[in-house]
Amino acid sequence: MYIRNAWYVIAWSGELTREPMHRTVLDTPIVLYRKQDGTAVALLDRCAHRAYPLSAGQVIGDNIQCGYHGFEYDCAGVCVKVPAQDRIPPRAVVHSYPVAESHQWVWVWMGEPEKATTSPVPDTHWMTDPGWDRVTHTRLFQSSAELVHDNLLDLTHEGFLHTSSIGDEAVYVNGVTVEVDGTVISVDRWMPDCHPSPLFEKATGLTRVDRWHTTEFQIPSLHVIHAGVVEPGGRREDGHLLEVLNAITPQTETTSWYFYAFCRNFDVGDEDVNQLLRTNLGEVLDEDADALELQQQRMGQRPSSVPDVLIGQDAGVAKARRLMAKLLAAEGAEAETPAPPRRSAGRAS
Ligand code: FES
Ligand SMILES: [Fe+2]
Repeated sequence: MYIRNAWYVIAWSGELTREPMHRTVLDTPIVLYRKQDGTAVALLDRCAHRAYPLSAGQVIGDNIQCGYHGFEYDCAGVCVKVPAQDRIPPRAVVHSYPVAESHQWVWVWMGEPEKATTSPVPDTHWMTDPGWDRVTHTRLFQSSAELVHDNLLDLTHEGFLHTSSIGDEAVYVNGVTVEVDGTVISVDRWMPDCHPSPLFEKATGLTRVDRWHTTEFQIPSLHVIHAGVVEPGGRREDGHLLEVLNAITPQTETTSWYFYAFCRNFDVGDEDVNQLLRTNLGEVLDEDADALELQQQRMGQRPSSVPDVLIGQDAGVAKARRLMAKLLAAEGAEAETPAPPRRSAGRAS
């Protein structure tokens, strides 16, 4: 059901502390905490003894102690103490997941651990670049990750769902070009000499612009939307530029974590602009969340024999679905089977 050999955002850096924290991703309960040196740990949140959540226990040094009968696990998931006896059962192990922390996001690798070491974490440097400012949001969508991917790959919905903020007819009257490069799908829309969206007019004061947005989907989890506006005929690099980061992590088959950062290269440090964007973009995400929840409900009632009716603007959607299905098939049965527990310390930074 899920592509596992990939990095997924599981939390914001600021969420992780020395207190254990639970988050379910890819239908798997995970406990997260920081070691004494600050590095992040991700373990299966289910004690090997009798399945109590480790997140309900406590962190002791770099280890975590189950709150039910006191089994203590090190940060590689190996049980190092059973208070009621000296012998530690060899199967007293919980899976540890590779973790990487980069530019305010904590990423987890849910697949084969050794493959994590050769897979770079996606670039999101705009989140911490001092030349950029940003507003952020987190949502738990009541819809599958697939529906969120479709939503981001077909932005024509902005002209109907987000008309008070980021959408108008310029989005759907202009077509897209789609390119595939390995596991990255780019959907590019150029909107020449048009009115800026209502939110952009408020934020920039411009009334006539060339607009563009390119959704770059780094399968399977991250959409980076490179976007901007410039006075008609101007050079893109001279414009008001945006990098909109959308990290989508399945929680279950029908629910998804949505980690969002809207980064801009203008009005950096202007708290009024931050507040304007924070409020309006929060509403945009709520509009998407509400729409996709309804869509998920209807899809659940729709006979499986009835397919979507895709149009030209869905070219990116169609290509992404095909490529994700191919990657999922390549992972095969392994995608359905959690990796076995390991007794040796893995990469858990
Ligand atoms: S369930 Fe964790 S120690 Fe018993
Ligand atoms: Fe949207």
